[in-house]
This record gives sequence, C-alpha cells and structure tokens, in this order.
Amino acid sequence: MSTALRLVMMSLALAGCGRAQTDVDRWLQRMHDQPKAGAYGASAAFPDGKVMQSPPTGTIAREDVLEPSSGVGRDSSGGYAASVPLVVTADLLARGRERFRVLCAACHGAGGFGGSVVAENWEPPRPPSLRAGPAAALPPGRVYEAVRDGFGRMPSYAADLTASDRWAVVAYALSFRGREPADSAERDDARRAAALARRDSLGPVVEP
Ligand code: HEC
Repeated sequence: MSTALRLVMMSLALAGCGRAQTDVDRWLQRMHDQPKAGAYGASAAFPDGKVMQSPPTGTIAREDVLEPSSGVGRDSSGGYAASVPLVVTADLLARGRERFRVLCAACHGAGGFGGSVVAENWEPPRPPSLRAGPAAALPPGRVYEAVRDGFGRMPSYAADLTASDRWAVVAYALSFRGREPADSAERDDARRAAALARRDSLGPVVEP
C-alpha cells in the first residue's frame, strides 16, 4: 500500500470520531436530562418527605448469609454437638482442607500441629495443636463455636465462613486428629511445633 493511500485511510478513520449524534445518543441524553430523584433529595411520595428510605424492619439483604439450624454448635439439650450435623463427604473434607489452609494454617500450622511461623513469634498461650493435646479432644460443637465466635486472642471467622463451610473446616480438623503429617508442609509444621513445645518447657529464657 502506498504511503499516500495509507494517509488517506487514516484521515478517513479519524474523521469517524467526530460522528453525528445517533438515535441512541439522543435517548441516553433524554434519560440523563429527565426529572429524577437524587438520593438525598426531597420526595412527596413518602410520609417523611425523603427520597432515601430505610428498609422495612426485618428486611434481609440478598447477600446476607442466613444461619441455618446448623449455625449453632449445640445439641438440643444445650451441650456441645458431639458430631458434625452435615453429611461428611470427601467433597466436604476437601472444602474444609482448602479453607483450613487459607484461614487457619497461618496460626495453627499447615497441618494443624501448631508449628506456624506466627505461633513461633506468639507469646503463650500460642495457637494450640489441633492434632494432639487438649484442643484435639474438644467436642465438634466447641470447635465450631471457637471458629464462629473466636477464642482468647483468636478472632472470629464468622464473616469469612458460611455455617456449612465452618462445619467443613471442623470436619477436616476432626479428620486429622492423632494422624501423622501427610506431606512436607505438614512435616515442617510438626517439626516446628515440637521445637516450640521444647522451648516452652524450658520456661522463660533469661537473656545473658
Ligand atoms: C490469628 C491466629 C489464629 C488463626 C488464624 C486461627 N486461630 Fe485458632 N486459636 C488461636 C489462638 C491464639 C488460640 C488459643 C487462644 C487462647 O488460648 O487464648 C486458638 C484456639 C483455637 C481452638 C481451641 C479453642 C478452645 O476452646 O480451646 C480451636 C479449636 C481453634 N483455635 C481452631 C481454629 C480454626 C479451625 C481456625 C480457622 C478457621 C483457627 N483456629 C484460626 C489463633 C488462631
């Protein structure tokens, strides 16, 4: 293509940018110009004279998570639930493992042994092992409520996990109790947890 032809084609293309107003442009302009209520404006349509109205009492936003009956960690007599109230499938455990790695592993270790880098730098009481010891003997309903409400310096994870995801994490945490580490991340976690337990058993270290 000659340079001259190329220049002609470019100037034609640029001329297209200053095109005339189309029907669509006019419709959009009409919508833009029409009388409308601004959020903070006045309105004769409502008794309080405001455009912005509060949602009626009891309104639930579409994105709100509704707590199903499984949203409590208690049984009918008020004690901690002794089992997970969902059917524990391989999918539920996989979901629980995935969420555990994202939300719990930073403190409790990749495998739940309590040997995270955060735990190493945390003054006791540290994030405990969920594989062995007292926290690994807690009833499922107690683990659920610790996740939902937080405990001591552990924050609540209610906003990060739906009720069924919380139970998925609980089911996963129950499934690894007493088990050996499964991969290298879990072995590192177990090794660091053992070193931390030794450090704690020595009592406060007096710096020279
Ligand atoms: C920011 C660090 C942190 C994260 C993240 C964290 N925890 Fe904890 N967790 C702790 C600490 C610290 C304790 C001990 C609190 C204490 O003894 O005061 C604890 C205690 C617990 C306990 C024992 C509760 C009891 O009644 O003794 C369970 C069970 C538990 N965590 C489960 C979880 C699960 C499951 C997750 C992920 C959803 C999680 N934690 C995320 C720091 C954390």
